[in-house]
Amino acid sequence: MAGNEIIKVDRLTARIDNQLILSDVSFHASAGDVTVILGSSGSGKTTLLKHLLGLYPSDKNAISVLGKNPWHLPQNEEKAFYSRLGVLYQNGALLNSLTVGENLALPLQQHTDIKGGLIEKAVRLKLQMVNMQEAYNKYPSQLSGGMLKRAALARAIIMDPQVLFCDEPGAGLDPVSLSALDELILHLQKLLGMTVVMVTHEVPSIMRTADKIVFLRNGKLTFEGTVREGIESGNTYVREFFDRAKGN
Ligand SMILES: Nc1ncnc2c1ncn2[C@@H]1O[C@H](COP(=O)(O)OP(=O)(O)O)[C@@H](O)[C@H]1O
Ligand SMILES: [Mg+2]
Repeated sequence: MAGNEIIKVDRLTARIDNQLILSDVSFHASAGDVTVILGSSGSGKTTLLKHLLGLYPSDKNAISVLGKNPWHLPQNEEKAFYSRLGVLYQNGALLNSLTVGENLALPLQQHTDIKGGLIEKAVRLKLQMVNMQEAYNKYPSQLSGGMLKRAALARAIIMDPQVLFCDEPGAGLDPVSLSALDELILHLQKLLGMTVVMVTHEVPSIMRTADKIVFLRNGKLTFEGTVREGIESGNTYVREFFDRAKGN
């Protein structure tokens, strides 16, 4: 499916409280790819992701996600549009007062007409996809860090989204759990035919998953291409980023 631009950003500039946060950012993400947005802390990665999700205003032509700018969606299209997107946030954030099963059922109860028994089936299927069948009746406080991430991932894909957005999904995980989470995301990407847009600064994760990297520095796009192209390019910032991780 390469070449099919499912996300396009065209000269996006963003200010928050009159402070320039993103400046003239342009890139695209192809359907079926894992596109990784990287850059050091404060470079604007999360802000960019929030723009893609329509949480901040943008000029109509500056952003296209599945052919629409989410900020400019008519209200009657919002439900259908957002049901095609899944989001996995940094802290996972399941509701602590609900079981894992209830947490996963929530989006289905709120956004679909699916009823009781079928909801449980859908929830159990997604838990099975992330190897968490046994967690259906457990509360988030009863799960380890890696299990919480997997449960949050199951919730993010509960509606079979076309695009999965992840913001630092591996934050706080040990290297083994991080690697397992990456493998799981790649497995689900193939299984569900998803496009993935992932913010991360974990180099091992980037090496494992990225079809393409989009490198931000101080709110500006400094490189767009494959990891290999980035390392081989003369771009000092990209080279430094990967060299630092190798310990050079
Ligand atoms: N709601 C906000 N209000 C003010 N400044 C913000 C807000 N969100 C982000 N920023 C600023 O924008 C810059 C980019 O932040 P962010 O997108 O969170 O970076 P990253 O995710 O790459 O670490 C930072 O300087 C941050 O302080
Ligand atoms: Mg961030």
